[in-house]
This record gives sequence, structure tokens and C-alpha cells, in this order.
Amino acid sequence: MEFEKIVQKLAKQYKQRIVLPEGLEPRTLRASDIIIREKIAQITLLGPPAEILEFAEKEGLSHIQHATIIDPLNHPKIEEYAQMVVELRKKKGIGLDTARELIKNPLYLAATIIKAGDADGEVAGAENATGNVLRPGFQLIKTIPGVSLVSSVFVIILKDKEFGDDGIMIFADCAVNPDPNEDELAEIAVTSARTAKGLLGMEPRIAMLSFSTHGSAKHTMVDKVAHATRIVKDNYPNIQIDGEMQLDAAIMPDVCAKKAPSSPIKGRANVLIFPTLEAGNIAYKLVQRFAHADAYGPIIQGLAAPINDLSRGCSVNDIVNVVAITAIQAYQNKKQAD
Ligand code: ACO
Repeated sequence: MEFEKIVQKLAKQYKQRIVLPEGLEPRTLRASDIIIREKIAQITLLGPPAEILEFAEKEGLSHIQHATIIDPLNHPKIEEYAQMVVELRKKKGIGLDTARELIKNPLYLAATIIKAGDADGEVAGAENATGNVLRPGFQLIKTIPGVSLVSSVFVIILKDKEFGDDGIMIFADCAVNPDPNEDELAEIAVTSARTAKGLLGMEPRIAMLSFSTHGSAKHTMVDKVAHATRIVKDNYPNIQIDGEMQLDAAIMPDVCAKKAPSSPIKGRANVLIFPTLEAGNIAYKLVQRFAHADAYGPIIQGLAAPINDLSRGCSVNDIVNVVAITAIQAYQNKKQAD
């Protein structure tokens, strides 16, 4: 709850414009009403205006009238946006007709609106799969300069405050890259460190997880994690990182003292980097269910402007919080670019 209050308070200060392409989705409309009422962000909804306003009136969502509502099939900037898509997808040889068709899809239109500077971030996924939400962002918004890989983190809030920073930890990548190579794993670690710092004000202590600690097992999967750790250490000497290491050595000071006595993070990791998406995705769900932890995410990182993906089982409250997180990311991306 504390985390939710903090992100909503921060988002209010930043006054960002967030586009919600699933504009007719009931939870999205209920969340939009709260977001506008609480001044967490300015909202742009994509969908047929008459139907959106009719739903809002029926449900008593009186703040929806203050949203910008855009009909994807009838938008005054369609031609300008289509030209922009042609330019951005030049290497793929996309023509004007294809571009016009593409941006009738609200998920592509949302990414185009952001790229044109008419919104600052996007939240979707209440009714679309992760890949469909992210792909337009990969293709049109692309990555922050200096970052080549989009990845994701979960903010995990544990009941047991002895772990991480007073119970707060970052897990990555649990949602985007199925099998990162060593360079990609290194980039996930560096980008996650930036997110930990930017979003939560954490001083990151990163553990690169494996089934081996400092060479206790030999396998190509172990080598991948050890090499990724070396890449980060060589290129970012200021980042506190250790690996490869097992989870117990990463989070238990007494186990770390035995298995990795020279470890700079001393069993006090607050950022856990998993070797594959299988490991990361299973791990965060285990912690969420068995330890009754709160898991906020996936928070997508590395895009030049933020797009965040909702679970299709999300609640209205989840949408409010993800919009707040997206607004913070949008503000920080712009601040870094200045
Ligand atoms: N970072 C940056 N760019 C990327 C990335 C990335 N991680 N992945 C793909 N791209 C780019 C490609 O280079 C390509 O660019 P181009 O069109 O300009 O050449 C574009 O995105 C499309 O690439 P594809 O390979 O076609 O992308 P695809 O759609 O196959 O894959 C996706 C992207 C959907 C995110 C894929 O990585 C995926 O399915 N990941 C797993 C998502 C998932 O199911 N997660 C679990 C559920 S989430 C949860 O449980 C919380």
C-alpha cells in the first residue's frame, strides 16, 4: 500500500499524458475516472467517443468527460501519423496504405501518438497479450539511446522486511526476453539498476542468479551468467554486482559468507537478475503466491517512452498504479534525455 501511495504522489507532481488504447474496456474506464479525479495523469482514451461517453454516463464516471477521446477510425492527424510510420518503418518498406491500416489498430495508434510527441506513455494489456502490446513500441518508439534491449522488472514487496531494502526487491527479466545471451543479460542488469534507482531511489546491489556460486558447478548456462557479470563489472565499475551465484548466497548473509566470502553484495542483494524468462517468470509467481508478496509489473524498461503491459486479470487499482508508474518513467526518461 505504501508503494502505491508513493508512486501516485510522485505521478501527480509530474503531470504526464498517458494514452490508454483499450478505451472501451470497463476496468480501464473505471481506472481512468479515478486517475483524472485524483490528477494522477492526463488521460487519452482510444475508441469510439459516443460509446465511451455512454458507458461513462451509465456508470456514473463523471470525470471521463475530461479525458481526450480519440476515434482510431477518424482521427484528424491520421495522414501525418501515417507518413511518420512510413518513415519509421522505411527499412521494412511499408507503404502509405499499409501505414494507414496499421494505425487503425489502437495499439499502433497509441505508439504513433507517443512518437509524435502527443502523449508521454501508454498502458494496455487488460484485453491484449503482452507481445501485441509491446511490438508497436519496439517498432515505432524504439529504445533509449545507448540501450539496445527492451526488458522488464517486477517490484516485489515482501512481508519479510529483512530482505532487499526493507522488503522491497527488483526481479528481472520476468516478462520479455525468453533466453537472453550474455550481452543481453548484462544489459538487463544495467537497465534494471537504472530502474531501481530512478523509480525507487534504491542503491542497487545486483545478484546475477544461477544454480552455481562462483564456479561451484560447470555448465554453459553457468558460463553465460558469469560472463554477463564480467561484462557489467568491466564496463560499469560503479555498479555493485556479483555472480554467478545461487539465490541463497544472494539474499542470506550467513550463506554468502560460506559460499562467496569475497562477494561485494554480502548476501544483501536488492536486485535479482534471472538467467532466463522461465526462471524469472516462475520465481516472481512463486514469491507472490507462497510468500504473499505484492508484485508490481511487468514494468517495461529501455523504451524511449514507456509502454507498460497489464495482466488480463488486472484490477481497476492495478491499472491506476501502472499508469502512475508509467507517468514517473515518462518524466524520468525525458529528464535523462535533456
Ligand atoms: N528489445 C528491443 N527490440 C526488440 C526486442 C527487445 N527485447 N524484441 C524484439 N525487438 C524488436 C525486433 O528487433 C523487431 O524490430 P524491427 O521490426 O524493427 O526489425 C521488432 O521488435 C519485432 O521483433 P520480433 O522478433 O518480430 O518480435 P516478437 O514480436 O517476436 O517478440 C516479444 C517480441 C513478443 C515481446 C517476445 O519477446 C515475446 O513473446 N516475449 C515473451 C512475452 C511473454 O509472453 N511474456 C510472458 C507473459 S508476461 C507475464 O507473465 C507477466
